[in-house]
Parts: sequence; C-alpha cells; structure tokens
Amino acid sequence: MPVKREGAIDLRSDTVTRPSPAMRRAMAEAVVGDDILDGDPTTRLLEQKIAELCGKEAALFFPSGTQANQTAVWLHTERGTELVLEAKAHLIHYEKAGVAGLSGVQVRPVETPDGVLTADLVSAALRGSVHEPTVSAVAVENTHNGAGGKVMPLAVWDDLIGLVRERHLPLHLDGARLWNAAIALGQPPARVARGSSSVSVCLSKGLGCPVGSCLAGDQPLIDRARAVRRRFGGAMRQSGILAAAGLYALEHNIERLRDDHTNAALLARRLEGHRSVRPLAPDTNIVMLDLVAPGLSSDVALARLSEAGVLLSPYGPARLRAVTHLDVTTEDVERAAGIIAQVLGE
Ligand SMILES: Cc1ncc(COP(=O)(O)O)c(C=O)c1O
Repeated sequence: MPVKREGAIDLRSDTVTRPSPAMRRAMAEAVVGDDILDGDPTTRLLEQKIAELCGKEAALFFPSGTQANQTAVWLHTERGTELVLEAKAHLIHYEKAGVAGLSGVQVRPVETPDGVLTADLVSAALRGSVHEPTVSAVAVENTHNGAGGKVMPLAVWDDLIGLVRERHLPLHLDGARLWNAAIALGQPPARVARGSSSVSVCLSKGLGCPVGSCLAGDQPLIDRARAVRRRFGGAMRQSGILAAAGLYALEHNIERLRDDHTNAALLARRLEGHRSVRPLAPDTNIVMLDLVAPGLSSDVALARLSEAGVLLSPYGPARLRAVTHLDVTTEDVERAAGIIAQVLGE
C-alpha cells in the first residue's frame, strides 16, 4: 500500500479525509459529559438522529465500523453456527477473522457475479441436513466495497428481507457507506435499511469525520449492544467531542456525496478505452481499475503512480481501487486521470 506523500492526490480511500475547520470548531464547542456514567448529551443526540435516519428505534455510537459490525454479529449469532455473507464482504476479509475469533462463528461466503447477494443465492446457502452447520444470521454490505461500491437494488433487498423473515433469520446490514447507497438510489437511508435487524453506519468515510460509527436497531438489541460494546472495549467517556463531528457531517456532508459519485464516474470515463487499464463502471464513489497490460502488476503500477503523485490502493494482483471523497476536487480527479493514463500507458 503506498504511503501518504505531500501534494499527492490521495484516492486510496474515503477514510483519508481530514476534519474541516468548521467540523473542528463544532468538536471544540461540543457539550460533553461522561457517556458511561450519565450519557454524554452530544453523543445521545447523534444516536437519536442516526436512529431516525436509519428508521430504527435506537442507535449506539462506536469508535469504529469494525466494532459495530462485530457487536452485531455477536448479538445475532450463536457459537458454532454460520453467518452467510457475500464472498468479498468486509466482515470476511478486513476484520481480522473477528467473526470466528470473537463470536465463534464460521463464515459462509457466497460467490456472486457482481457482489449482489440475492434471495436465491442465500436460499441455496441455507443448508438443511443434520450433518451441516446451522445458519444463524445473514449479513449484507451496501454499498459493497469489495464489489466496487456496488449498490444493492431495492427489489433485490426486499426479496432478501422476505426470505430472512420467512426463515426467522436476523439480517445485519453493514452500511459503512449506507449514505452513498441512499444517494445513488435517491431514497432515504431508512428505506435502504428497511427490514434489517440492525445496521451499522460509518461517519469516518464519505462523511469526513475523524472517528465514529453507529449501530442502529430496535431498543432491546441496542440495550444489549451497549453491554457488548463495553466488553469489546468501545465504551467512551466525553465522546461528545467525536459525536459533534458526526452531527456536523449529517447536516453538511450527506448531500454532497453525489459530487463524489460524479467524480468517480468522471475518472472511469476518462480511462475508458485505455490500453493498460480497464475501469469498472462505478455505482458510487469507488472505481476498480483492472490492469490489462501483460506483466503490469498492482505493485508495479502503484509504485509508478505514487512516484507521479497519485495514490491508489491494491485490490488483488492486477486490480487497483480509486475512491473519491470530500478532500479531492473535480480538478484533482481530472489531473489524476491524466497521470494514470500517462504513467500506465508507458
Ligand atoms: C464496508 C465496510 N464495513 C466496515 C468497515 C469498517 O470500518 P472501520 O474502518 O471504521 O472499522 C469498512 C472500512 O473500510 C468498510 O469499508
């Protein structure tokens, strides 16, 4: 993974954003208290707003999306059972085997052509024989990072919700980028998360906060999540300083995500037809770039691009990922496209 270079256009992730001066002011002025003892007022306000936005009864603030996801898995599953997920899910590849290590659960990866976990695919994964493990829950990622920021179509989602209801299975939505899905679908986040047993959302990705995620669900689930969060070491004290950034972001940084989507589409368009790089058409703010020139590996391409002032991240031996975000402008993206086209065309 290339490291940050001064002056480089950083498209490695939407987590690289720095809090703006206005966000920092909101953080500095936050009214705070001890969240464990009495409930920090700013944190409570953020939790209430997130619950409303997600169409759930309650929400809980977490230091990270990983911890929110792992708490949900802990709550929805039993040791010695299976969790059904799409094969490229964050919960499988980027959470240090927490599903197994913390909850004692085996993942059941389901291969899909495009990252979209349909009811038919999940249904086929629900094994029924006495010899096989019991599935205790399903998790879905929307947007799906490993599938290039793919948005799950609402009709597919509704079918899947129908299936899990019929089978009495809880469904966790990893909505680290739920906001991007909502903007792309032109629907409120509550509609995109409708029917899920829980949803995790990140504030520290496209929304530009330095820290923070929330888990939303019904009140009894969130009451239990509070205890699990404590056990996982995620209970915080004057967390209002961080929650204030979240409140600022909800007000100022959701609608503008469409700019990130436009910039991602621009990057893909500029690289279309290139002889060494094939961009996959983005749904949201993530563009996967397949390296198609013989012998051009991700490592070599990343090093050359970094030298020329563009930072991307590796996604396999011949695939790079570019992510647009609030700290890159349309001009930056135009410039990055030019550099990528030139450096990888040589
Ligand atoms: C889809 C998805 N889920 C969960 C996470 C975890 O979030 P965090 O980095 O805050 O632990 C990420 C982070 O990149 C993500 O992309």
